[in-house]
Amino acid sequence: MNLQIKSFDEYKRVYDYSVNEPENFWAEIASSFTWKRKWDKVLEWNFKEPNIEWFKGATLNITENCLDRHLENNADTPAIIWEPNDPEEDHRVLTYRQLHDKVCQFANVLKNNGAKKGDRVCIYLPMVPELAIAVLACARIGAIHSVVFGGFSAQSIADRINDASCSLVITADGGFRGNKDIPLKDIIDDALVQCRSVNKVIVLTRSRAAISMIKGRDVWWEDEIKKVETQGNPDCPAEEMDAEDVLFILYTSGSTGKPKGVVHTCGGYMVYAGYTFANVFQYQPGEVFFCTADIGWITGHSYIVYGPLSQGATNIMFEGIPTWPTPGRFWDIVDKYKVNILYTAPTAIRSLMSFGDEPLQGKDLSSITKLGSVGEPINEEAWHWYNEKIGKKQAPIVDTWWQTENGGIMISPIAGVTPTKPGYATLPLPGIQPVLVDENGKEIEGNGVSGNLCIKFPWPGIIRTTYGDHERCRQTYFSTYENMYFTGDGCLRDEDGYYRITGRVDDVLNVSGHRIGTAEVENAINMHSDVVESAVVGYPHEIKGQGVYAYVILGSSEHDKELTRKNILQTVTRIIGAIAKPDKIQFVTGLPKTRSG
Ligand code: WT7
Repeated sequence: MNLQIKSFDEYKRVYDYSVNEPENFWAEIASSFTWKRKWDKVLEWNFKEPNIEWFKGATLNITENCLDRHLENNADTPAIIWEPNDPEEDHRVLTYRQLHDKVCQFANVLKNNGAKKGDRVCIYLPMVPELAIAVLACARIGAIHSVVFGGFSAQSIADRINDASCSLVITADGGFRGNKDIPLKDIIDDALVQCRSVNKVIVLTRSRAAISMIKGRDVWWEDEIKKVETQGNPDCPAEEMDAEDVLFILYTSGSTGKPKGVVHTCGGYMVYAGYTFANVFQYQPGEVFFCTADIGWITGHSYIVYGPLSQGATNIMFEGIPTWPTPGRFWDIVDKYKVNILYTAPTAIRSLMSFGDEPLQGKDLSSITKLGSVGEPINEEAWHWYNEKIGKKQAPIVDTWWQTENGGIMISPIAGVTPTKPGYATLPLPGIQPVLVDENGKEIEGNGVSGNLCIKFPWPGIIRTTYGDHERCRQTYFSTYENMYFTGDGCLRDEDGYYRITGRVDDVLNVSGHRIGTAEVENAINMHSDVVESAVVGYPHEIKGQGVYAYVILGSSEHDKELTRKNILQTVTRIIGAIAKPDKIQFVTGLPKTRSG
């Protein structure tokens, strides 16, 4: 089966097929990937435990799908075109051949440093090609990667490293984002004071900041590569992985104070990321795809690394931010590399929109044929601006709804196939069975209704467990409503059966497309010695979608309020990271409470 649907009629036909014969449908999709051994059974599942196994008995290595299989015909196709933070610095191009060789080389470095199948490796790197190389090198040898976004604090990193007992960390001396230098290695050093499982740190040279290297623990990336070169064997055979072996852990926030390690497995995740990339974006050979996410989030895992590379696509990887050194940065990149498909977040669109038309002047955006949006509901104004100013009304917009736990896009138009509607994620992809339920878990049928969004049948990219705590996975996603995966989102299904996601129905905020638990922020605020109690809620924010609003009760009355405010912000930055900083802090003397407190 071709991964791409070409007409709306075909969509309807294939969708019905995928619901009536899910195993046959997914077996056909999976056949377009390279397996070392075929599966005995497509699917075994129950949502009660939950236990979900896709492509049982099959073996594979995802990097053979992302690298080796392209070497025959597409070895010289650019896999990654890297655009640095500073436009004055040279860009880099890695062809599939070059990326393959670098991944093998670094995989051997990992082995030399004691990493083996099943070990957990924490990756804390800036958006440079070596981040993708490190991720793929882990996958090559069957080590489990846990990428931590470069904006998280030492404390957050330590929590994540300890939760997964990582033995190895890959980082850089520092990184650049906009006009900021990020002291990545210093932050790692702070984190590792609390982490006893880590015995090796591999440090990439990026910023040339002065850092300290700890003897016996820290080694330079470049030195280790040299050692591998002198050992003479550039190849690294791909480890044979069971379809249900863990590929990676990625931490995400929930309604409790502690982030959970979402676990994805090799076979199902590969199939789902590749299938959704090919189908939703209708990627054609030779097209240039630009996903603006950071690889520290699931969007980057699925649509910079695994999805596009599994399909032999050409990817832009951008180190910087949309507004530096000018708010025309994205449009310069589109112009420079003749980007065909741009995939970004509503928060970036709203932010760029606020600068007016000036940054667009003189930028040739005519290469753009498809646009994507992800991470939060897109408001109509931003949708229309994106459509008119960037797509020139010629480029279909795919508003893609999905979650870290899903592995890939779930509800979305198929570019050029599904008629779109501003603000609507439209229809489920073939293979996805959404339902709306009421408070009691009763399915709400028909159109023109709203409820809580659940999925009633597994798909290959579904979360398998939360690392080290299966019960938490069951409770969070599979216990609210019997026999369904609960998304935590509220949703409307209109008269045409189109889905519109209305936002979270739990205590989770969506700030600039990033998920932040209110309890996590409260915990961080409460670390401040003057704070007695706090309550965090979201409020509508023009650019970020949601802002963080904190009500805080202070201990004694003798306070310089401004100083305390600053200290609280610092505390949150230190405990979680700058992304969770409250936009507003209001000092109060009491908080409303239920009778039970
Ligand atoms: C939450 C998942 C996986 C993408 C990056 C965020 C919200 C995501 C949309 C959309 C409306 C959306 C939901 C979801 N969300 N995409 N197109 N329209 N809301 O991943 O951090 O796991 O967050 O983001 O509320 O539950 P995440």
